[in-house]
Amino acid sequence: MEKLKFIRPNKEYEKQAFEYIQEFKNYNSHINGAGGLAKYIGNYDEWLQKLENDRNVVPSENQVPRETFMLIRESDNKLIGIINIRLALNKELKEYAGNIGYGIRPTERKKGYASYQLYLALKFCQEKGIDKILVTCKKENVGSSKTIQSCYGILDNELVKNGELLQRYWIDVNNAVKKLSLKYESEE
Ligand SMILES: CC(C)(COP(=O)(O)OP(=O)(O)OC[C@H]1O[C@@H](n2cnc3c(N)ncnc32)[C@H](O)[C@@H]1OP(=O)(O)O)[C@@H](O)C(=O)NCCC(=O)NCCS
Repeated sequence: MEKLKFIRPNKEYEKQAFEYIQEFKNYNSHINGAGGLAKYIGNYDEWLQKLENDRNVVPSENQVPRETFMLIRESDNKLIGIINIRLALNKELKEYAGNIGYGIRPTERKKGYASYQLYLALKFCQEKGIDKILVTCKKENVGSSKTIQSCYGILDNELVKNGELLQRYWIDVNNAVKKLSLKYESEE
């Protein structure tokens, strides 16, 4: 895997962030994991403030703290993906949405970036002392289910949500990071 940075969004990526969302729209692709960015087009500073607020939320049944990271390719400083990590689960998240949402821009897909981005998120969870995380996807979203499986997600169950079949996977964070680090860190 080439060199990629995993960073909290900052002012440097304002223009690219909006282009990123536009690319999803151009390709009619579902936006996921972008920390609500699509609702802040033209209001980047407000979005950065929202992310700061998201980080500092006190966990409750309604809200949990969350962190958003950008995956940046170092060779051309390009924004490749965005991932949103929820650091706790409430009842709703435990049932449906899980700990993590993510996306890779349409023109950079099928190059292994989603799996690598999820690996970096798992490393972050490990640093935070989180032992296991829940990741869910629609069954028909084969790219996403394969991404989860490539990071050692174990299927717990499938359930119907809003008429669609949803898969719930658990990842043993320490085990996955150990195995994935052998894969990714030996490539360097
Ligand atoms: C799902 C998504 C993140 C995958 O990104 P990606 O960078 O293309 O994924 P990767 O290249 O890391 O591929 C991971 C695995 O999925 C497979 N894959 C990726 N896209 C696929 C597709 N459309 N159909 C079948 N398999 C696919 C890859 O071959 C790879 O499999 P492997 O581990 O057996 O080699 C991307 O398609 C996306 O952003 N979709 C829109 C947002 C979304 O659905 N997010 C997830 C919500 S749960």
